[in-house]
Formats: sequence, C-alpha cells, structure tokens
Amino acid sequence: MARILVTGGAGYIGSHTVVELMQQGYEVLIVDNLSNSNIDVLDGIEQIVGRRPEFLNVDCCDYVQMDSVFIQHPDIVGVIHFAASKAVGESVQEPLKYYRNNILSLVTLLSLMNEHKVPNIVFSSSCTVYGQPDKEHLPVDETAPLKKALSPYGNTKKINEDIIFDQAHACPQLHATILRYFNPIGAHPSALIGELPNGVPNNLLPFVTQTAAGLRSELKIFGNDYNTPDGSCIRDYIYVVDLAKAHVKAIDRMLNVKDREQVEVFNLGTGRGLSVLEIVNTFMKVTGVNLPYTIVGRREGDIEQVWAEPHKANTVLGWKAETPVEEVLLSAWNWEKKLRNIN
Ligand code: UD1
Repeated sequence: MARILVTGGAGYIGSHTVVELMQQGYEVLIVDNLSNSNIDVLDGIEQIVGRRPEFLNVDCCDYVQMDSVFIQHPDIVGVIHFAASKAVGESVQEPLKYYRNNILSLVTLLSLMNEHKVPNIVFSSSCTVYGQPDKEHLPVDETAPLKKALSPYGNTKKINEDIIFDQAHACPQLHATILRYFNPIGAHPSALIGELPNGVPNNLLPFVTQTAAGLRSELKIFGNDYNTPDGSCIRDYIYVVDLAKAHVKAIDRMLNVKDREQVEVFNLGTGRGLSVLEIVNTFMKVTGVNLPYTIVGRREGDIEQVWAEPHKANTVLGWKAETPVEEVLLSAWNWEKKLRNIN
C-alpha cells in the first residue's frame, strides 16, 4: 500500500488525519519534532486504529535529517504538510520564528520531493488568506481575492501558497492540493485523541471546554458590537474528523485521478456561519454545563464574519462536512472531561 509522509502528524489536525488515512489502508510515516504536540498521541492512534503509525522525531527544517527520511522510505508517494507554528499572537511577537519554521520547512520539503521524485503534496492553508471578504464574497469561495495578512502567521500561509504555485510552475511533475481550513473544532468520538493547547488557549473551543471544566473562571467574548445578527463574530466551525477525511479524499484524488489541475485549491468548511454566542449557547444546551462568560472589547485583528462556500470541495473532491455542530461540541467536551478525569 502507498505510504504517506505526514509532517506534524502528532498535532491536532495531523493526528486525526493519520487515523483516517490508516483506516483507509494507507501506510503512514509521521515526522514531528513534538514542539507543540505530545508523543502519547501515538498511543491514542494505536488504540483507535489497532496499528501504530511509524514515527520519527525530526524537524522538517533540518535538510540533512529530512533527506535521510526520504532515503530510508523510497515508497513515499505523497506528503501531507501540517507541521507549522500556529499561534497568531506569538507570530506578532516573534515573526522570525514563524517565517523560519513555516517557510523553511516547506522549502526543505519541496526541494527533497524534487530530488527524491515524490510528486504529491497536500498543504494545510487557512481561510485567513481571505482576510475579511467583502459582502459580495460571502460565503467565500476559492475565487475570492486574497487580502493582505493580518499577522506573520497568516502571511506564512499566503507565502507558502505562492511558493507552491511557483515550484509547480517550474516542476511539471509536482502536484499540489492546497486546503484552506475554516475553524477546526472537536475531537475524535473515541475521546482518545483531541486538541492539546499549549498554556492558555487562544482559540474559542479549547477556552470554552477549559472554562466548563473549571480551569478558567470565565470565557471572555470578544465584542458584541459587530455588524452581525447578535453582535458577536461569525465563523465556519468545522469538525476536525470531517476535516481529516478531506485529506484522505485529496490524497485519493492525487493518486487516482489523472484529469485534474496541477495545483488545486479547496475551501474546507461547512458552508454555515455561527456566532460566538450561538456556539456558547449550543455548548451549554448539549452538555448541560453552565459556562460563565462576560462580553469584553473586540480582539485586535479579529475578522467580523467569514464562512465558506464549500461547493468545489463537495463536487470535485466528493467531500462534505456532515457532522452536526451539537455532536461536534459534545465531542470537544468529552475529550476535555477525559483529560481532566471528569465523569
Ligand atoms: C484564529 C486565527 C486564524 C487561525 C485560526 C486557527 C486570529 C485573528 N485568527 O482564527 O488566523 O487560522 O485561529 O484556528 O487569531 N473568541 C472569543 N473568546 C476567546 C477566544 C475566541 O470570543 O477566548 C472569539 C473570537 O473573537 C472569534 C471566534 O471566537 O470571533 C473564533 O476565534 P478563534 O478560535 O481564535 O479563531 P479565529 O480568530 O477565527
């Protein structure tokens, strides 16, 4: 069976994707330097799948070590590149860390893929490349204009997309699928793997579940004076397991479908926008847990509203986000309870 190299495969989206790939019969090699993930995730994957993925503790920016990964695994037919630093605030404080990690790792991978004749890459991009789409581009599809990034993190996603297009232009044998994720949330239904935020979470869902678990005294909702029906920001929250399945579809397509563009871009979202208040209220309803919150001022750099037009992914990739948000929020809560030993 074909082997897929998954960089950042011990991370949040990476680990869920490894599970789906293995369950579809792919051999997986995880390369991860564990800078923002935990080796124990391999136990969770093994319990879910019944097999342990191969794992190497290697930094994707290390050309020599990555070269030996490719030399030792001549059966790699495709790469899914998750490995990256992803904290927006930190990227503003330490831009060079982000430009180094996120860009050098992709450049290293693409050079080695060229050298070792590995033709397929799936790249984790983000809806952050659209910034705040103009009204006529909501829901946002893949043809919407890209906007100047609001953070060095966002800029690395944009730059990496450009690097992929330039390299594909120069190397006709390279094929790429760029996946622009909206807001991934939730955890595997087994509660054996899930999100493990480092320190105080920046993202909404981990903050919600940690508050519900009593680790944080209250959730701060950043702004209720936006031009939205209830005044809070709107996002397209997508279940991480649905998102993981899209990666398997992308790999299947790259390996099996001849008639496709050399670089393809897909928005991965549900097509439905939910406000922060809707998430908070639905969370309380499905879990029965009270969630203390206060409304505070807007967070700098936040986008008012964005949600996906996923038609292209639905039709071309044959993939659809189908898990109801109630089930997704419950999966996030079950994972948090498991982490904190709450019954
Ligand atoms: C953020 C990043 C985005 C990145 C994505 C990865 C910013 C500006 N953008 O997206 O580039 O790709 O994470 O998942 O940071 N919220 C609260 N209280 C909180 C936390 C969040 O009200 O304690 C609100 C935010 O204002 C926002 C929504 O919840 O409206 C979602 O926030 P978050 O989970 O941080 O995601 P994004 O800001 O959409």
